[in-house]
Amino acid sequence: MGEEKSGRSHVLPLVAIGAITSLCGIALGLLIDWFPVAASEQAHDIDTLWDVLVIVSVPIFVLVETVVLYSVWKFRMRPGEELKDGPPIHGNTRLEVFWTAIPAIILVALCSYAYVVLHDIEEAQANEMRVRVVGEQFTWTFFYRGPGGKEIASNQLYLPKGKPVKFDVQSKDVLHDFWVPAFRQKIDAVPGITTSYRITPIKAGTFPVVCAELCGLGHSVMRQSAHVVSGAKFDDWLAKKQQGAAGGGGEQAGGGGAKPDGKALFASGASPACGSCHTLADAGATGTIGPNLDQVLKGKDAGFIQESIEKPGADVAKGFQDGIMPTNYGDTLQPEQIKALTDYLVQVASK
Ligand code: CUA
Repeated sequence: MGEEKSGRSHVLPLVAIGAITSLCGIALGLLIDWFPVAASEQAHDIDTLWDVLVIVSVPIFVLVETVVLYSVWKFRMRPGEELKDGPPIHGNTRLEVFWTAIPAIILVALCSYAYVVLHDIEEAQANEMRVRVVGEQFTWTFFYRGPGGKEIASNQLYLPKGKPVKFDVQSKDVLHDFWVPAFRQKIDAVPGITTSYRITPIKAGTFPVVCAELCGLGHSVMRQSAHVVSGAKFDDWLAKKQQGAAGGGGEQAGGGGAKPDGKALFASGASPACGSCHTLADAGATGTIGPNLDQVLKGKDAGFIQESIEKPGADVAKGFQDGIMPTNYGDTLQPEQIKALTDYLVQVASK
């Protein structure tokens, strides 16, 4: 009886410690800025769901840890108790009903809430825009529907602010995952099927697009940009893109009307940038995923270099695998840009 009494006397202090720890944990969980800027309407619902999960989970974690730590300390084996068996305890039906029912109620409530949030963010929107997103090793291409149904390809994602958009996500080769962290949602790009999700961008700016599924050697460089701009700016960009105007709408370095700059294109203009995979001393690039261009381009002519950009599978450098370099530069770069890139590389190769 003495044991039990001293055990009970610990209950109040334990409850107090648990409550204070829980409050601190919840405060910390809510104060830490876990996520990037929320740039879509859906992001707010998702962030609120996260906050609710933190508020509910922290006290449960604290409760379990407090009981575990207290038990380890209180019921530890003392010297001379090595051969002692524990007290013969039988089940306590009331307690078991209680600790089964409470977690079940919490789980059902959280699942229902999460379902409602999911239902809301997946709901079809009136006048939504469609963008076809195609993943391949190791780049994304975004296809817009131009007038007359003709598709317009871009290696940068442009979205008009405030307009709902549905992404139809596809893959040309292996599993990828289309993710703009600022929009919060993501979905696998699965070969052979089209997956989709919707967001409504509400913040102008440039946000990273990343691949969130390990897809091969270049997975880490499968990064592009999502530009959220005003509706007028977007229409402008799309019209320019459609005309195939010099510079491809000016979103790439070396674009924008003037003669494209091959070196800038190499370093950061093309997407993914050549320099993220290739080494080229002249451009300060040190990538090692693809062949070292200081070595393999020596003495090569413009024909070979242009073909290597547009059809990388035609002549693969020794020791490297076919299919690693994106095959869509021929579509996503403007002819003038490919020419500028080729001219630049020819000039470097002949040094
Ligand atoms: Cu594509 Cu990782």
